[in-house]
Amino acid sequence: MAADYILIGQVLSFSHSPFTGERPEDAARLDEAVGVSGDKVAGTGTLAEMQALLPGALIVDYGPHLIMAGFVDAHVHYPQTAIIASWGKRLIDWLNSYTFPEEMRFADREYANEIAGRYLDLTTAHGTTTVCSYCTIRPESVEAFFSAAQVRGQRVVAGKTCMDRNAPEGLRDTAQSAYDDSEALIGHWHGVDRLEYAITPRFSPTSSPEQLEAMGALWAKHPECLMQTHLSEQTDEIAWVRELFPQARDYLDTYEEFGLLGAKGLYGHAIHLEERERHRLREFGAALIHCPTSNTFIGSGLFDMAGLMAEGQRIGLATDTGGGSSFSMLRTMAAAYEIGQLRGTPLHAAQLLWLATQGSAAALRMESKIGNIAAGMEADLAVLDLASTPAIAQRSERALDLWEAVFPTIMMGDDRAVAEVWIGGRRV
Ligand code: GUN
Ligand code: ZN
Repeated sequence: MAADYILIGQVLSFSHSPFTGERPEDAARLDEAVGVSGDKVAGTGTLAEMQALLPGALIVDYGPHLIMAGFVDAHVHYPQTAIIASWGKRLIDWLNSYTFPEEMRFADREYANEIAGRYLDLTTAHGTTTVCSYCTIRPESVEAFFSAAQVRGQRVVAGKTCMDRNAPEGLRDTAQSAYDDSEALIGHWHGVDRLEYAITPRFSPTSSPEQLEAMGALWAKHPECLMQTHLSEQTDEIAWVRELFPQARDYLDTYEEFGLLGAKGLYGHAIHLEERERHRLREFGAALIHCPTSNTFIGSGLFDMAGLMAEGQRIGLATDTGGGSSFSMLRTMAAAYEIGQLRGTPLHAAQLLWLATQGSAAALRMESKIGNIAAGMEADLAVLDLASTPAIAQRSERALDLWEAVFPTIMMGDDRAVAEVWIGGRRV
């Protein structure tokens, strides 16, 4: 049983989404201390209030550091850890040149174990406490990832990537084996400790209609699971989808037709959307996952955050490692800010921090458990040093308020800004 702790610092929490209301900053609240009892947050308030709540708790004083919910990365490919930052290709060539050969290596369980551990250690060092990951077509790659997360006590979502066409020999399953393997993994892992399974057809170019239909049937049988896939990332990809599915009204329709559009669906990228697609995604309350470093790195396009938020879409934020060029949600927030600027709609620091925590948690339908600091929520925390490098320190020193103090860390920070991480009430 974990002990009781009181953490002192600038404790940041959100009362509502900073995308609603007049001023984004009004959604945020700062407290002097947070109480942690066992694996949960006991409350926030003054030190005296927390001491009254948790008499005898150990005190950890973080001084001026920002204490916030651990980051939630809503779309990653852990098997792409070792090929991050691979040069010069756009999506389809990048998949064929770098990604598929690397994913082939996960037939070796030891290699899968090594990369799963390496990936979770890297992301934890960057302040990320929950990720939603694609694995490879190999069930062993899922076993490796869930095992590594279980040992670390982490809340993660993952699924076996399903592909039965347009992928090399050795990286293809079938409609039936994808269904059977996925269902066996759901039985073994879904709801065990803090682990959740996501049904994972990679994207419609690599699944036959028969496989998409099988995935839709599996999701109908297991509605407790999330479903994750990719949608409208690059224009060449969309043209290819049109060739492969001539009868479909648009890209989303290739999923919708087979029962793969739903409230627990996660649609990665979602950049070049048609009016009908936006309407249907909104109607279902599906989640769009913005992957800004990936979108600039692979040259995909500029996600319409302001427009999509204004129409009430559910949106999460993600690195998309290794199409994304970082393991860091700070770098990811910086890229989201820059894409907003390129579209003439800059995001407020409160909106960026919310997207990287509550926004992504809500996309994963876990907003009552993780992604914020409040009594009863799981104690996954990131402690940020807002003066982690000389360059950042000299800028934040001038800050007139919290948002000016935190923005240089969002724009210029990396793992050096992450002073400490707590997972499930334990310091790691
Ligand atoms: N679309 C299908 N697979 C992938 C992938 O692995 N990364 C990215 N960025 N897009 C994809
Ligand atoms: Zn992806």
